[in-house]
Parts: sequence; C-alpha cells; structure tokens
Amino acid sequence: MIRPARPQDARRIAYLDVETWRTTYAGVLSADYLVGLSERRREAGWRGVILREPRDVRVAVNAAGTIVGFGSCGPNRGDRSFTGEVFTLYVAPDWQNQGIGKRLLIALFRRLVAAGRRSAILWVLRDNPSRFFYERLGGRQIRRKPLAVGGAAIEAIAYGWPDLPAFLAEVSSEDREPEP
Ligand SMILES: CC(C)(COP(=O)(O)OP(=O)(O)OC[C@H]1O[C@@H](n2cnc3c(N)ncnc32)[C@H](O)[C@@H]1OP(=O)(O)O)[C@@H](O)C(=O)NCCC(=O)NCCS
Repeated sequence: MIRPARPQDARRIAYLDVETWRTTYAGVLSADYLVGLSERRREAGWRGVILREPRDVRVAVNAAGTIVGFGSCGPNRGDRSFTGEVFTLYVAPDWQNQGIGKRLLIALFRRLVAAGRRSAILWVLRDNPSRFFYERLGGRQIRRKPLAVGGAAIEAIAYGWPDLPAFLAEVSSEDREPEP
C-alpha cells in the first residue's frame, strides 16, 4: 500500500534514508561522509517536511505494516521550465525490483498534478545505476551539473517529464493507488 506519510513515520524514513545512501553511494561518496550521516538529524528533517506538507511524502508499507520505501516531491525551486520536482525515491534493498519504486514514482507524479504541477524534474548522481530506472520510466536526460556532496564534486544528471498528465494517462491501473 502507498499512502501519504505521517509524522511518526519520520524515524523509519530516516533509517531507510541513511541505509540506502550508505549502500548506494559506497565507493562514490567518501567513507567519512557516509559514516557521518546521522539518522537523528535526518529524522528531525523528515518530521519537519512531513508536518509542513504530508501529501508531498509517500510511503510504501508492506503487509506487516513496515515502511519499505518512500519518496518526496514538491515545487521545483531551480528551473522554471519544470514546475514540479521529485526530491527523493528509495526502496529498501530487499524490496527492490518488485514494482514498488514505479508505484511510488507514479504516486508522486499524481500528487504533483493534483497540486497543479504538470511537469517534473529529478536529479540523480551520474554514478548511480538507478538512473536507468528513470529512463525505463520515460524520463529524458535534460541537464547535467556538478554537485558538491561531502566535499567532492560529483556530476548529477536531471531527468525530465514535460507532460505528467499525458504520462499518467498511459500508466496501467495496477500501478496506481486509489486516492486516499
Ligand atoms: C531506483 C529504485 C527507486 C527503483 O525501485 P524498484 O522498486 O527497485 O523498481 P521497480 O521494481 O518499480 O522497477 C520498475 C521498472 O524499472 C526497471 N528497473 C528497476 N531498477 C532499474 C535499474 N537500476 N536499471 C534499469 N531498469 C531498472 C525494472 O526492471 C522495471 O521494469 P519493468 O517495468 O519492465 O518491469 C530502487 O531500486 C532504489 O531505491 N534504489 C536505491 C536508491 C537510489 O539510488 N535511489 C535513487 C536516488 S535519486
């Protein structure tokens, strides 16, 4: 099930956030930076985000009620040609490749459209193999920029979806959650 996040989800989201960063970016970002990531700081950050706008954060919950993935979105503050942005999307390693990432991304796109944002951008580090997932889901490479992460300059790639309503019209109903 995919649903909007609640403030009490912040702890589990922060745990997954730090774990997936450490798994995904080992060998890409410095070990010092990854070791220094703090679940407690991230939990406070996520609680603030959820309290501000719970509909912008979506969680995937398994049958036992445990959060196994999450994503967040909102207004694009950088580039005016895309009005929405997907800020994060993570699925716990044991739950990847089962369609959860796709359903979360679709839920975020639907949220953006409901909030009046009809296009979306998403930044991903070039060395992250997950970027091919976004290509699989119709994202087009639109920009590149160096990003300062943990003291290193790493190239990031932006994927764009210029017409979310058209994209969503093509999506199978199996991948859509009912509106909460
Ligand atoms: C990237 C991620 C969100 C994808 O979620 P997922 O639940 O594993 O993906 P899904 O099962 O929904 O896959 C949907 C489709 O994309 C394909 N796909 C998934 N990961 C892929 C990859 N790395 N490369 C190419 N295709 C991929 C699947 O095969 C599937 O194709 P299909 O529709 O033909 O069956 C997830 O693997 C993840 O969280 N990775 C680590 C964290 C990360 O790097 N996040 C991105 C930071 S911006």
